[in-house]
Amino acid sequence: MIDLPVLGSPAPNAVPEPLTPSASGGPRVFIETYGCQMNVSDSEIVLGVLSANGYGLADKVEDADVILLNTCAIRDNAERKIHERLGHLRVHKKRNNNLVVGVLGCMAERLRTKLLEKELVDLVVGPDEYRRMPELVTAAMGGERGIAVKLSKVETYDDIEPFRTEGISAWISIMRGCDKFCTFCVVPFTRGRERSRSLPLITDELLRLQDAGFKEVTLLGQNVDSYLDESTGADFADLLIASAKAVPSMRIRYTTSHPQDMSDRVIAAMAEYDNICKYIHLPIQSGSDRILELMNRTYTVDHYLGRIARIREMMPDCALSTDIIAGFCTETAEDHQATLDVMRTVRYDGAYMFAYSPRENTKAWKMGDDVPAEVKNQRLQEIIELQNDISREINLTEVGRQHHVLVEGPSKRNNEEWKGRTDTNKTVIFPHEDQRGYIVGDTVRCTITHSNSATLFGKLD
Ligand code: 5AD
Ligand code: SF4
Repeated sequence: MIDLPVLGSPAPNAVPEPLTPSASGGPRVFIETYGCQMNVSDSEIVLGVLSANGYGLADKVEDADVILLNTCAIRDNAERKIHERLGHLRVHKKRNNNLVVGVLGCMAERLRTKLLEKELVDLVVGPDEYRRMPELVTAAMGGERGIAVKLSKVETYDDIEPFRTEGISAWISIMRGCDKFCTFCVVPFTRGRERSRSLPLITDELLRLQDAGFKEVTLLGQNVDSYLDESTGADFADLLIASAKAVPSMRIRYTTSHPQDMSDRVIAAMAEYDNICKYIHLPIQSGSDRILELMNRTYTVDHYLGRIARIREMMPDCALSTDIIAGFCTETAEDHQATLDVMRTVRYDGAYMFAYSPRENTKAWKMGDDVPAEVKNQRLQEIIELQNDISREINLTEVGRQHHVLVEGPSKRNNEEWKGRTDTNKTVIFPHEDQRGYIVGDTVRCTITHSNSATLFGKLD
């Protein structure tokens, strides 16, 4: 999971993110991460385990002895991308017979031995088996292909120090797995049962991140609202408060919330602590109660809107984003209109919008996939267009406002311009002014001068 969702941008599950710190002693590993932020965090755990066992890191694929793809299985197109990538890697395998290619993550867990049928793949390792990476990679280097896909009820990698590249923003997984079983979703099958890390170990990690110069952390879980530290009984609100107090100078973010489980205490904790960012990603999925029921989302639109009302009452300036699926089984034109209506009512700052992709072995798989592809895509297009209009309108109201912007560095397009993010998770581009003496990781004040649906543009105050 990639940079934090940029509000109003397309799906986060798109860009491969190579983690390529500098090389060291042993065999060299190159890891490419696909999918959600949890995968980025997992790749850091895999590198943590491997580097503690003498492995080095390759800067590019050509220099690697081991190439790992940490994969996503959430939609069919995510998997198709990996198959394509494996096809490209064949060239490297031909050039270097000893090259080890491994598939990790959700697709490894879902497809298991089917992946080993591809002559290219030497290793298949699921999300709960990363402690075994050194042993498995060594065996694969000796010509023994391996598979490790057992799911665990307890593995949290609590004691593993993730290998983080330098930066200002870090991820911490606070829990693993999901027990929600939304009928469309493979995650409960690929990541197993929900389990939480211990609160004191999370706050210890936060302190180490602060000492290492990180300025922002995102607490990660499929459903953070069901976080529970079993030894102390601390819930997610307690964890947020403990985190905000442990590192008062760092920005705290989190994702993902569940509308059924998000408590008033969580909202109150966010409102109380300045360093908890005022941004919530609250997936609605559909605006039709009938579809929500078929999805087993366990809430109604009314309940959802009640949560939004509470958030706005306690934090009027809090930014909101959501996930929406277009064309779930049996979705009618009326259901679709209901989704557009909710979008108009809530007016999200941004959204991740997807066409429904049936996944084998899920409950929804058995319900069929009866919305024709053209209709699905047409509805998705309408959803995207509406969201772009709303994002553009909301961002126009930002013009003239001031924001504290955490400086991330030069913008991609132009070195003379830098970018950073607001507390509300919006990207701000501003002209770089060397003489002002700020550096990456500083917080500057900007006034917004203009905007579009995805980005704010500002000048330094
Ligand atoms: N098809 C389309 N979108 C899906 N998501 C999860 N499973 C599917 C699927 N089968 C979306 C949901 C979820 C986000 C991470 O991905 O909107 O919140
Ligand atoms: Fe999937 Fe639902 Fe769990 Fe999110 S809450 S990971 S959509 S099952």
